[in-house]
Order: sequence, then C-alpha cells, then structure tokens
Amino acid sequence: MSREAPGRGEPPSTPSSTVAAPASRLRRPTPPLRFRRPTEADHAPIVHLVDDWWGGRPVRRLLPRFWFRHFASTSWIAEVAAADDADDADDAGQVGGRAGTVAGFLVGFVSPDHPDEAFVHLAATNPNLRRRGIGRALYERFCDDVRARGVQRVTTTVWPGDRVAVDFHRATGFRAIDRPGSRAMYGIPAFPDYDADGEDRVVFVRTLDPTD
Ligand SMILES: CC(C)(COP(=O)(O)OP(=O)(O)OC[C@H]1O[C@@H](n2cnc3c(N)ncnc32)[C@H](O)[C@@H]1OP(=O)(O)O)[C@@H](O)C(=O)NCCC(=O)NCCS
Repeated sequence: MSREAPGRGEPPSTPSSTVAAPASRLRRPTPPLRFRRPTEADHAPIVHLVDDWWGGRPVRRLLPRFWFRHFASTSWIAEVAAADDADDADDAGQVGGRAGTVAGFLVGFVSPDHPDEAFVHLAATNPNLRRRGIGRALYERFCDDVRARGVQRVTTTVWPGDRVAVDFHRATGFRAIDRPGSRAMYGIPAFPDYDADGEDRVVFVRTLDPTD
C-alpha cells in the first residue's frame, strides 16, 4: 500500500445476502444492503470510484482487474439492495443511492506461502455511507471466509498517519505489531520504509478464534 493510498462475514456457502443494518447502527440512516462476491464486471465501476473514496489519492493503480478475477472467493462487495428488498424504497434511494449503488468493497486473499495467514489488500466504504458498520461487516465476512479455510490471523498494512484507517482497524480487533524494527509514528508502532523508501507502515494483525 503506498503512502498515497493509506490503509491500506455472510458464510462462504451463500453467494449473496440482503441484510438490514444492525440496530446499534441506526443512529445514521442506512439502507438495506446486499453482500455478494465481486465479478470482473465490477472492476470498471469500482476502479472509477476509488481515488475519490480515498480522498483524491491515486489508488486505482493498486486495484488492477485481476483482483476481481482471481480473488473473488475471498472478496466482497456491499451494495444498496433492490427496492423490493428495502423496507422503504424511497428512504433507501435518498440515503444510500439507487439499488445497486456500491456501498463498499474488500479485496483480500489467503497467503499461498503462509496458509495460516490472510491479507486484506484494500477495503473501503462509500463516503456517503460511512460510520454505519459497513466496513466492519465487510471485514467480518472476510474473516469468516478465511477462518473456514483454516486461517489463524489476518494482516493488513496502513500508513501510520491515516488516523481513520488506524482507528478503524483498532476498533475491529486488530493490533499493531510492535517488535524490533518498529518505532512510534503518529502515536502507533510502525515500520519505517516498510514498502519502499519513505513508505512507512503499521502492520496490523488480528488473531482469529477457530471456534467463532
Ligand atoms: C476505514 C473505512 C473503511 C471505515 O469504513 P466504515 O464503514 O465507515 O467503518 P465502520 O462504520 O464499520 O466503523 C467501525 C468502527 O471503526 C471506527 N471508525 C470508523 N471510521 C472512523 C473515523 N472516521 N474516525 C474514528 N473511528 C472510526 C469506529 O470505532 C467504528 O465504530 P463506531 O462507528 O461504532 O464508533 C472508511 O473510512 C474508508 O473507506 N476509508 C477510506 C479507505 C481506507 O482508508 N481504507 C482502509 C483500509 S485499506
């Protein structure tokens, strides 16, 4: 994950699901969502969005089409559910956009070389739908996917200055790895030049409980 792009579960047996927002999230209106696997057809519309979703940073180069072809079974898209599925179709349209609007996505994989580890490459929520639990829901689905494959820990890397991404990962069960080579940056252990010169990173890890 570059400095320009910081921060960079439905059970796997079902291809998609429509869910209402958890009650605890209703402090902000949230349309019913459908979670499904990405396909290659999703690449063009999503890659068109990501620079904007990362606040203008050039993230699209980090999301080539192969993610949607070769890693779909461990990736997710959340979208606004069809009107038929919404409790109130008018509200759904006003709050989250039209049915099919992308509410968020996550692309990740199980490490071929470290099969007990999975990695989240990119995840984001539509800026109009943040702080409603969508990012957390995407991560939970990913964790369910990879736990079912025997994965024991999920990792990801984040630029230490990206406060939102740091807070989000701390809130979703990740801890920053602190070991020789790391030092405090922006108040969190991070590895200088982790991805390239000047590309410092927090390495976040979340341990999965196989009984969950
Ligand atoms: C990081 C991101 C994915 C979070 O998505 P989200 O759907 O808004 O997150 P959630 O609503 O599931 O938040 C879960 C928890 O994370 C924390 N959190 C999320 N956004 C936060 C923010 N802006 N400030 C502080 N804490 C935040 C909170 O503890 C939150 O729980 P709460 O709302 O009950 O307090 C979203 O802000 C985003 O897309 N950012 C740009 C892309 C990015 O940085 N991705 C990072 C991974 S590559």
